[in-house]
Amino acid sequence: MIKLDPSSFAESQLLPAAEVIRRGGLVAFPTETVYGLGADALNEAAVRRIYAVKGRPPDNPIIVHVHEIGQLELLSSYVPEKAYRLAERLWPGPLTLLVRKSPRVPYAVTAGLETVAVRMPAHPVALKLIELSAPIAAPSANISGRPSPTRGEHVVKDLSSKIEVIIDGGETLYGVESTIIDLLSEPPVLLRPGAYPVEELERILGEKIRVPEFARGLAEAAKALAPGMKHRHYAPSTPLILVESKDYSDLEAYARAVRRVAEGYGKVAVLATKETARFYEGLKVIELGSRKDPFSVARALFDALRRVDELGVDAAVAEGFEERGLGLAIMNRLRRASSRRVEL
Ligand code: TXA
Ligand code: MG
Repeated sequence: MIKLDPSSFAESQLLPAAEVIRRGGLVAFPTETVYGLGADALNEAAVRRIYAVKGRPPDNPIIVHVHEIGQLELLSSYVPEKAYRLAERLWPGPLTLLVRKSPRVPYAVTAGLETVAVRMPAHPVALKLIELSAPIAAPSANISGRPSPTRGEHVVKDLSSKIEVIIDGGETLYGVESTIIDLLSEPPVLLRPGAYPVEELERILGEKIRVPEFARGLAEAAKALAPGMKHRHYAPSTPLILVESKDYSDLEAYARAVRRVAEGYGKVAVLATKETARFYEGLKVIELGSRKDPFSVARALFDALRRVDELGVDAAVAEGFEERGLGLAIMNRLRRASSRRVEL
C-alpha cells in the first residue's frame, strides 16, 4: 500500500506502481469518482486477471482510462464527432464515452463487444499513473456486486491480498462513478447516470439524451445495450429497503411514512439526510448529507452502504431522492442496491 497526498506527491513515488502496470500487474488507484482496479488495457492476460480478482462476470466490459485525448486514436477505429465535442469540453472529468474499438484493444476489455468505453479521469494520481505506464483498463476496485470503494480502506478490505499495489489517495471527490453515454446511437443513450449530470450533457450537445428504464435502476438492461447493467450491484449483505415518493416537498410527512416502513423490520438502520434525521429518533440513523446539496449525498453513499453491514441490524431502510441532476445517479445506485422497493 502506498499513501499519497493527491495535491503534493512526487512523480518518483508513482514509478514502482507504473512499473507494475507495464509488467502486466494490477494496481488499485484513486480517481475523482471511485477507486479503480487497473491493468494495462492492451495486455490481455493482465486484463483477464481483473475479472478473476473481482469475481466479475465475463460479460461485463471494462472502461479504459486515458491521460490525453490523443489516446482515443490508439484505442478506437471510429470516434463520433460528438464524442470529440464532449471530450474537449469535459475531460478530464467523470464522463465515459463509447467509441468503436480498434483491433488493438483485446476483447477481454470489451467483453467481446465492438465498442470500447473510454474516459480521462480528473485526478492527478490517476493521470500521472497512466502517463507513466499505459492506457489503463479499470473497473471499480471492489469485489463484484459490492459498493464501489470511495476510500483506500474499502479497497484494502475487498482486495488487499490479491493485488500488487494499492495507492491510497484518501476519500474520492464525487463518490459515485462516471456518467456513461453511448454517442454511437441516435439519439444518444445514457448507459449509466453518474457524477456528470445528463441535463448538462444535453445542454452541450443541444439534443435530448434517451434515458432508458435501466439507467434509472428500474429494469434490467438488454444484454446488447448495456451488458454490465443487468447485474444487481452495490448491495450490502443486509436487506435494504428503499422507500420512494413522487413528492419530497413535505419532508416531515415523507419521513413519518419511511419510519412506519422501518418499524416493520425489527432492528433497523435508516439512511436519512440532515433534514430528516430528527424524525427517526430512537432508530439507528446513518446520515448521508443534505438534500440541498446532492453532491454531499452522492459522496457519502457507498461508504454508508458498506457501514450498514457493520451495524448488526436486521434491515436498513433508505430514503429516496428526486431524479434530477446527481439525484438520478443516486437513485440508480440505491435501486440497484435494494432488495425491496416501496413506492408511497
Ligand atoms: O467512475 C468510473 O467510471 C469508475 C472509475 C474507476 O473510473 N469505473 C467504473 O467501472 O465504474 P465499472 O467497471 O465499475 O463500471 C463500468 C461500466 C460497467 O457497467 C460496464 O458494463 C460499462 O461500464 N461498460 C464498459 N464498457 C462498455 C461497453 N463497451 N459497452 C457498454 N457498457 C460498457
Ligand atoms: Mg463497478
